[in-house]
Amino acid sequence: MKPLFLSAAAALMFATAPLAVMANETITKAEEMLAKAKEMRAEADALAEKAQSMLETAKAEAAETAATAKAEENDEPKEETAETESDAPDNIKVAYEEDGKYFTEDDIPTYNVADDGTIDWYSFSGFRRYHSECHVCHGPDGEGSTYAPALKNSALEMDYYDFVDVITNGRKHVGASENSVMPAFGTNNNVMCYLDDIYVYLKARGTEAVGRGRPPKKEKKSKAYVENEDACMG
Ligand code: HEC
Repeated sequence: MKPLFLSAAAALMFATAPLAVMANETITKAEEMLAKAKEMRAEADALAEKAQSMLETAKAEAAETAATAKAEENDEPKEETAETESDAPDNIKVAYEEDGKYFTEDDIPTYNVADDGTIDWYSFSGFRRYHSECHVCHGPDGEGSTYAPALKNSALEMDYYDFVDVITNGRKHVGASENSVMPAFGTNNNVMCYLDDIYVYLKARGTEAVGRGRPPKKEKKSKAYVENEDACMG
């Protein structure tokens, strides 16, 4: 009996040992593959990051080039505008001010830049709102993109009420070669409560009264502004 039992045990050991070894090998292999997969993923992530930053650089450069080209193109008319500043278009010229908000004689909101370069609070706020809600499509500083028009021009060319209407209700051009969609922002308080801010900022960009980038000097937020903002945001 004993020898038989022993040899059975031995046989069992003999049979299971290779299985255990094989299982171990499989685990090791799986672990190796996992490690490799992780490595590949890290590499892919790094590549994606690199591609993203290249894309951003390329986009920024393209925007810069376009802006320079545009600036050169616009050189002459701009000088003209500067010379005739006293009779700036009616939708720009400040007729009166109310609690830090500036209006034309037609009661249309407009920007104001003081002699020392300080801009009104609405325009400054518009700079921030524009860059959080609009610039992904319309490009930085209202300069436009391949996808959406340069709003710094639209704000000058479009009637205030049309401008507000497009933002509130959106607009679509669906054609054979283009499919361009301006979303409706009518239910988005982060846009609707700051329509005039965005509008006056873009007008100031249109006349270049405010340059590209973050405006350095601004008026203080008025009490009325804070009250309106609170009421609008709810
Ligand atoms: C998802 C991309 C996208 C976003 C975000 C976006 N727009 Fe637009 N917008 C467009 C496109 C595309 C058009 C052109 C629509 C067309 O072809 O009719 C457009 C058109 C406009 C126009 C009409 C311009 C003109 O000259 O006719 C105005 C005004 C406008 N957008 C304002 C805004 C404002 C303000 C914001 C931010 C609150 C904004 N848009 C955010 C894509 C966008």
